[in-house]
Amino acid sequence: MAFVWAVQAQAAEVTWQKDIKPIFDKNCLGCHGKDSPEHGEFQKDKKGFTEKGIGMRMDSYIHLISYVGWPYTGALIRRLDDGTSKADKKPGNMYEHLGVTDEERKANLTTFKAWVGSWNVKRWSDITKEELNAIKAKY
Ligand code: HEC
Repeated sequence: MAFVWAVQAQAAEVTWQKDIKPIFDKNCLGCHGKDSPEHGEFQKDKKGFTEKGIGMRMDSYIHLISYVGWPYTGALIRRLDDGTSKADKKPGNMYEHLGVTDEERKANLTTFKAWVGSWNVKRWSDITKEELNAIKAKY
């Protein structure tokens, strides 16, 4: 019953808890975990933290969505994109961390895209209310 299966697959909503957290914990947590600085703290010494391979904290739902909606609108999208959604067509610099193989990176990007719901690289200054409304990013 392929039809029934397709309907069920569509109904299975992508959530942070079920789908994103496992990917994040495996591929991102090492540099964006609970001991990493808050975004504002990171900003005080960007160069220093980056040189040490320490990113900003993103390990909770609330932390991560601040890189999707506000205040760091589209940051997650710009960094994880494989290049297809960016004007310069270059992959974001966190794309490589999405997996060990190209296949894994592509699969995990697909999951992130499904979670965000509206894969938009725009910043707060350019994004429209309608575009923000299209973001899903469910807990
Ligand atoms: C080896 C360490 C490392 C790993 C692994 C890593 N990151 Fe990062 N990430 C950094 C560092 C350091 C920065 C800050 C320097 C920069 O902007 O490139 C950063 C920056 C970012 C930013 C930009 C935030 C902003 O304020 O603009 C996002 C979004 C991000 N990472 C997401 C991720 C995601 C999602 C993963 C997992 C798929 C990941 N990173 C894996 C080290 C890492």
